[in-house]
Amino acid sequence: MLQIVFIGVRILYNLEQQFLENFIPRYTQQTKTSKLLRQSYRPVFADSQNSLGKGFSQVLKELFYPIVVKRSLGSRLWDIDDNEYIDLRMGLGCHLFGYNPPFIQEVLADQLEKGVQVGLQPELVGEVAQLICELTRMERATFSNTGTEAVMTAVRIARTVTGRDKIVIFSGSYHGHFDEALVKAQMCDGDLYSVPIAPGITLNSVKDVLVLDYDNPRSLEQIEAHKDELAAVLVVPVQNYKPALQPKAFLQQLRKLTKELGIALIFDEMVTGFRIHPGGAQAYFEVEADIATYGKIIGGGLPIGVIAGKAMYMDAVDGGMWNYGDNSYPSAKTTFVAGTFCKHSLAIAAAHAVLKYLKAEGPLLQQQLNQRTTQFVRSLNSYLEENEVPIKVENFGSAFVFADSGSSESMRDIDKLSMELFRYHLLYRKIHVVGTCSYLSTAHTDEDINKIIKAVRDSVTELQQAGFLLPLPSSQKFSSLSSISKQV
Ligand SMILES: Cc1ncc(COP(=O)(O)O)c(C=O)c1O
Repeated sequence: MLQIVFIGVRILYNLEQQFLENFIPRYTQQTKTSKLLRQSYRPVFADSQNSLGKGFSQVLKELFYPIVVKRSLGSRLWDIDDNEYIDLRMGLGCHLFGYNPPFIQEVLADQLEKGVQVGLQPELVGEVAQLICELTRMERATFSNTGTEAVMTAVRIARTVTGRDKIVIFSGSYHGHFDEALVKAQMCDGDLYSVPIAPGITLNSVKDVLVLDYDNPRSLEQIEAHKDELAAVLVVPVQNYKPALQPKAFLQQLRKLTKELGIALIFDEMVTGFRIHPGGAQAYFEVEADIATYGKIIGGGLPIGVIAGKAMYMDAVDGGMWNYGDNSYPSAKTTFVAGTFCKHSLAIAAAHAVLKYLKAEGPLLQQQLNQRTTQFVRSLNSYLEENEVPIKVENFGSAFVFADSGSSESMRDIDKLSMELFRYHLLYRKIHVVGTCSYLSTAHTDEDINKIIKAVRDSVTELQQAGFLLPLPSSQKFSSLSSISKQV
């Protein structure tokens, strides 16, 4: 008899239900201490995360806890139950060289020996700024603690220099968690409004943000229409969730237009910086931004943010160049830039080691890693296509995502539950993935790559046997991802 259970509008068939009843105990047994710790500390520890970094789901409630990690090395990490994982999360893109590379570990040990200094001037900070400028071809650089702060500061600098208030961002871009970045476009009575994406953010705080379509020529027209109000156009050159969208021509047109209109072009290179090329997306797309923001890789695993740019913008930090012994002075208009932990001695020591290493290795390091990732993604895709699995893998250099194979946002091939189960299956097979972007590092070996491919195949086989991950007839394709996420 066909027994069905309704989960919102997602229907769980008998076989799928049985599959969940079988899989959930297997997974929770393997990671039991992680689950136990989450439950024990829930009364005092407010934390919305699960292993995939996704929201709560009633169906997968028993799996809703993060894997607790004990240690890590190279491409591997070990959880509290002594499971050994091949990691693809790689510190959300921080660990380009894998975990604990000796050249970073040594300088951190050395710095710890010398003491941890906060709010002071580290010996190597000037050299770090110089190396950043050398690799990114920017003129001046300054430091923050996180990527969010770097983007926030870049916008403040652009407003100071241009004397204008409004900024443009593109839908689908993530720029961190300050109020102005947590905004989306919403149509109301034929007009487009900017509205906060979450409670707690006021309408007022997003009123100066215009959210436009990415890679759409109409957006260039809208920028032109608002030219007298715009301080900056903020762009993630290749968005984290859509690595296949690499709009070189659009970026070059955006550069030309913003230059003509005197609007600051800010490249948010938090993920692309030092990953796609030593000079980041600017070098890759041959676009010179006015300001670029960096973080993640450059800190070698320690928290850091960097704002780098043309002197005419960066002079808003300190008033610009002046000399001792003459009557020169910091003449540029300045804004407020601060933070207790900026230029933290450990982060600067790690950044110095990372930049020196990248400089010595040259662009070959990124080229080889990008090539290996593309090769790996091709093998995965040919397997997924041959087996009509409604998932495709997309990459930009060494960053990749497991995506819906649907032809567009409005034609999805797969429901959220199947996709989450696929990821939980990879976790069960000791491949540590996150719900968003995955990364290969220089520490991943061919053996790691073969193991990942095998885990994908085994997960697909098991899920398809239970009725998940099968190609959907077009009449049953999902109409939009956002409506699905409300449903399951
Ligand atoms: C493009 C981009 N900008 C900004 C940020 C925010 O950086 P952080 O999390 O260090 O604040 C991120 C984080 O993932 C990012 O991907």
